[in-house]
Amino acid sequence: MASSRHWFESVAEARRRARKRLPRSVYLAIEAGSEAGITAEDNTRAFAELRFAPPRVAGLPARRDLRTTVLGTDLSLPVIASPVGVQAVHPLGEAGIAIGTARAGTAMGLSEFASLPAASVIGYNPSLFFQVHWSAERKTLFSRIERARQAGARALIVTLDWSFPGGRDWGSPSIPERVDLAALVRHAPQGLARPRYLARWLRRGAGQRRGLPDLTVPNMATGGGPAPGFFAAYRDWQAVPPPTWEDIGWLRGQWEGPFCIKGIMRPDDARRAVDAGATAVAVSNHGGNNLDRTPASIRALPAVAAAVGSSAEVLLDGGIRRGGDVVAALALGAKAVMIGRPVLWGLAADGPNGVHNVFEILRAGLDSTLLALGRGRVQDVARTDILIPDGFTVGNDMMGP
Ligand SMILES: Cc1cc2nc3c(=O)[nH]c(=O)nc-3n(C[C@H](O)[C@H](O)[C@H](O)COP(=O)(O)O)c2cc1C
Repeated sequence: MASSRHWFESVAEARRRARKRLPRSVYLAIEAGSEAGITAEDNTRAFAELRFAPPRVAGLPARRDLRTTVLGTDLSLPVIASPVGVQAVHPLGEAGIAIGTARAGTAMGLSEFASLPAASVIGYNPSLFFQVHWSAERKTLFSRIERARQAGARALIVTLDWSFPGGRDWGSPSIPERVDLAALVRHAPQGLARPRYLARWLRRGAGQRRGLPDLTVPNMATGGGPAPGFFAAYRDWQAVPPPTWEDIGWLRGQWEGPFCIKGIMRPDDARRAVDAGATAVAVSNHGGNNLDRTPASIRALPAVAAAVGSSAEVLLDGGIRRGGDVVAALALGAKAVMIGRPVLWGLAADGPNGVHNVFEILRAGLDSTLLALGRGRVQDVARTDILIPDGFTVGNDMMGP
């Protein structure tokens, strides 16, 4: 579906364009996985190990219905924008993702580390799920989710991957603590190598952020106070002890609507999440940014889906790059998937159009895969549509304490 001369045909192309468009440190901040990046790479490689059942040739459904409902929200396809900090990718920030996802008829996660407040993003896409980490003591956390609830967030996502090892073998991107004169001088060579990127920031019109990214996180402000800086908020989060399941049960009690726990990779944790009141679990390793050398999320999905059964919705993120990957995830037990980097690549490549473009690529691939497999609705996708190699699935033995 070519709606503009910038329209691209694959997520790989969005990534190439993002690489050309973004300063190196911004591109690498999106790309990076933790340590050696083994898990990040496995997230995509694992999909390549899966095979579809041989295609059918006649009696195929003339139209395919891709619609579904996730976290109480109707979607035109089972693909959602995963919550991500997008500070320096595009001056529209999360508003760009909201516009692109609204055009695609789907929902977005909004990270508490976002650069725009939930109340302003929701105007562009009311299908907004607010996401927090266990990043503060109970009272502060409550005030954050309360602000998102008042803004109209439809669901709460609580991300519980926890380790985030610091060192990356190929170097962590140098992102300044704040954008001041010293930082501008230090980053000038990178910026000058990407004049269109700089121009995009400097040219912003009325009502939008002007100048350069300010690296603040307004959703993490306490009370009516000012928005803290990204790094200060990140350090505060890392100083908070990891929550107990009782803490999670408490948080669930503070939120009336759909409640998703993101970062589940084990069936025993999935059961505990359901016991704590989760209405959904997201199988995720944070795009390979949690403990490196843990398995791809798609490998963990079947055991988690079996443990959860029909007691909660199961989502998956990590490594989805084409519509066929979405079908594979549905076949292995997910109700829908979330995408992180592809959204950021689309945003970098062509703003809201680029985000929309990425969703249309996945929609087209999903549709043609369903056609080949003879499935008329996403709900009809079955385990037998996928050939799973021996040893692919992990976690079947992890139901202990
Ligand atoms: C740059 C970047 C920032 C992210 N920030 C967050 C975040 O603030 N909260 C969160 O729950 N997940 C965050 N994630 C993880 C994504 O939500 C998602 O789990 C992951 O990107 C999915 O893998 P994919 O990038 O291969 O699609 C981030 C990921 C990236 C790449």
